[in-house]
Amino acid sequence: MSPAKSICSRLLLVSTLLTISVLTSALLFAQTVQISVDASKPGPKLDRNLFGQFAEHLGYGIYGGIWVGPDSPIPNTRGIRNDVVAALKAIQVPNVRWPGGCFADEYHWRNGIGPKRAVTLNPNWGGVIEPNTFGTHEFMDFIGQIGSEAYVSVNLGSGTVKEAADWLEYMTAAQATTLEQERGANGHPAPYKVAMLGLGNESWDCGGNMTPEYYLDLMKRYTHFVRNYNPAQQKDDQMQKIAVGPGGNEQRWTDWTETVMKAYQQHTWSWDITGLSMHSYTVVKWPPAYKSVGFGEDEYAQILNSTLEMDGLIKKHSAIMDKYDPQKKVALIVDEWGGWYAPLPGTNPGFLVQQNSLRDAIMAALNLNIFARHADRVRGANIAQMINVLQAMILTEKEKMVLTPTYYVYKMYVPFQDSTFVPVSFSAGTYKHGDLSLPRIDAMAARGKDGKLWVEVTNVDPNQSAEVELSMAGSSAKSATGETLTASKVDSVNSFEAPNSVVPKPISAKAQGGKLTLKLDPKSVTVVSIEP
Ligand code: AHR
Repeated sequence: MSPAKSICSRLLLVSTLLTISVLTSALLFAQTVQISVDASKPGPKLDRNLFGQFAEHLGYGIYGGIWVGPDSPIPNTRGIRNDVVAALKAIQVPNVRWPGGCFADEYHWRNGIGPKRAVTLNPNWGGVIEPNTFGTHEFMDFIGQIGSEAYVSVNLGSGTVKEAADWLEYMTAAQATTLEQERGANGHPAPYKVAMLGLGNESWDCGGNMTPEYYLDLMKRYTHFVRNYNPAQQKDDQMQKIAVGPGGNEQRWTDWTETVMKAYQQHTWSWDITGLSMHSYTVVKWPPAYKSVGFGEDEYAQILNSTLEMDGLIKKHSAIMDKYDPQKKVALIVDEWGGWYAPLPGTNPGFLVQQNSLRDAIMAALNLNIFARHADRVRGANIAQMINVLQAMILTEKEKMVLTPTYYVYKMYVPFQDSTFVPVSFSAGTYKHGDLSLPRIDAMAARGKDGKLWVEVTNVDPNQSAEVELSMAGSSAKSATGETLTASKVDSVNSFEAPNSVVPKPISAKAQGGKLTLKLDPKSVTVVSIEP
């Protein structure tokens, strides 16, 4: 090779190497996300009720999912499945909303007490027989077994104020009234605790198609007459009273929130509410058509993009609430939320049976983080629904039980229950797919009841891992340990045949230069605690 040619080819090699190195560092730079946690500026409490559950008489949500009856070969305690109880205890369910949903506005509690139960129908959900074998006592027994609290929704749609008032007296009275005696005769002399009371359900739709004004008048009567008599709930631990609130972004729901909150501003001693409910499902369009399994990146990106609308919805209704309740006395309780997809082929469409994939786990984390960022107003949320229905924690089939990816997110988030929000700053970057642009990274942090600093980081990007550098303002950290949840595909699920396809794995990070470096898998949810 001539000297001139040799110099030329060397120059070419050097410039190629330089280009590769610039591109590589640009790529690495793009993938390293700085997350700074400022523990010196604590925010509001993340109420444990943000991690609430919802169990409606719908499909196999109650019958088969919780209740198998005392004579069942499936191991049970007084008719309640032992495997399900153990799994729910592990996620420390703070409250369970029951008996509905739309079912609540057709529920007549007397059908579900005593030795002989009325057999009725469930017209909302498949028109099937409702045996009423799971009623008040069975629900309270279940709540006790899993160590949770009762969120009871009373029937405003087809019931009466007296029927609801009697139910509360039956459940909570300590004095020897006829209803208190009847409760004792049915096996529970001590009053039950009703922590939360739902004043109807979706009264603008399946709960009676009411105008906000009509609902308001009716709701005021319920808040006054439907009393909790439990002596332990008279001063501390008073029962929360949750009015029906909005169901989405349309004008009719803006009007609904306006009407209820404007009235609340003027409320007198004789009526009161402590919460306003909000329902928002991730569905993209009605009727639900997205598949819960057997989908690809298009549907992954579309569903996650849609779920992020929760933030705007909360902001919109919080702003109305702020106008009439600047002290934030009334909580916004998102007591129905989750992914709602097409029913699994071959199932009763009225039973809302769907699988639960890694996409749902990521969706759960994104929503829980949104709730956390609004924790000054959002003080409760109930994912729909706990077992075998919609975005479930648990799926059962006769004696078999499987825990879903969403279940594991709830397990990983246990340290956030009753924790104190701590601000994080980070540049999320962008995950692009087709026309959609989503934040690539999401993060949330809080000081747990255990005193530890807990950080959650979600990598939304299904194709690229992300390097994260965690730093703490004003102090350094030694290490971070926790768990990460991912799987091979966006639609990976846990099935009865393969129950461990999507399960958390340990993850840890050591300090380097005062920062903790974590490598996050694509499409993953990670929760770590930081050791100072
Ligand atoms: O969760 C299923 C149904 O969705 C509930 O019964 C109702 O409140 C909502 O429309």
